[in-house]
Amino acid sequence: MALRNILIHPDPRLKKVADPIASVTDDLRRLADDMLETMYHAPGIGLAAPQVAVMDRMLVMDCAKEEDATPEPMVLINPQIVWTSEDRSVYDEGCLSIPDQYAEVERPAEVEVEWMGLDGKTTRARFDGLWATCVQHEMDHLDGKLFIDYLKPLKRQMITRKMQKLKREMARG
Ligand code: NI
Repeated sequence: MALRNILIHPDPRLKKVADPIASVTDDLRRLADDMLETMYHAPGIGLAAPQVAVMDRMLVMDCAKEEDATPEPMVLINPQIVWTSEDRSVYDEGCLSIPDQYAEVERPAEVEVEWMGLDGKTTRARFDGLWATCVQHEMDHLDGKLFIDYLKPLKRQMITRKMQKLKREMARG
């Protein structure tokens, strides 16, 4: 396993729609392992392939975040939302591609998602709480959408400017 470099907003690759995955290959399994390691190392609770510059429709997540919780790593390939609750919930979201910036985003409180697993089989499950927020946030990444796209333009621009400054500082080393 290896850590992958996480793209920082603004980056054109974070705005692209990712491609459907045709089949589970060794490369894809390696990518899933690397993404989980990169996510845990960050640390974070979710990571989508475009965030590590791979334009494929795959995401990883683990929202079992209490310190003594048993890890529950999940890998979702070609995920699709098949049902959303009318109930909505607000969560203070962050993103590994927008470090140290948080803002409240409202989304459906529960979603049912269908996806292909690393075993090539189709699975369907219902998510609520933090898992529901996380899976929707990560699926947005597959469509080139970031959580700041839900914010008012002024707030979004403020965050983008901070990230541009951060990237300049990182480039200087
Ligand atoms: Ni994110």
